[in-house]
Amino acid sequence: MDEQVTHTVAVRPSDVEIEVRDGEDLFSAAQRLGYRWPTVCGGKGTCRTCFVQVEEGAENCSPVGPLEREGIEALRRPVDGLTRLACRLRVEGPVTVTKRGVRRRPQE
Ligand code: FES
Repeated sequence: MDEQVTHTVAVRPSDVEIEVRDGEDLFSAAQRLGYRWPTVCGGKGTCRTCFVQVEEGAENCSPVGPLEREGIEALRRPVDGLTRLACRLRVEGPVTVTKRGVRRRPQE
C-alpha cells in the first residue's frame, strides 16, 4: 500500500500541528485539514498575507524561489530563510513556525 509521507509543522501561538504531505505547501495542507489561514490571494503567492516566521527546522524547508523572494522583499524582511510564504513553503522534516490567526474553520 502507498503510505503518504507527511511532515509535522507546529504553528504557534495557536499550537496547531499540520501534517504536510511531501511536495505540498503549508498553506494548502492547512486548508486540506480544515484550518483557516490568513490569505487574500488564495495561495497564488502574490498577497504575502500568509507569511510565517520559521522558529525551528529551517534546514527542513524548501529553497526560496523567485516569486517568494519578491514577496519577502516586499514585506521588507531579510531573505534569510526565516521569513517564508506559507503558500510557497514545502518541508522535508519537522518545522515550527509562528503565524497568528491560524484556527480551525467552524464546522458546518
Ligand atoms: S496566500 Fe497569498 S501569498 Fe501566500
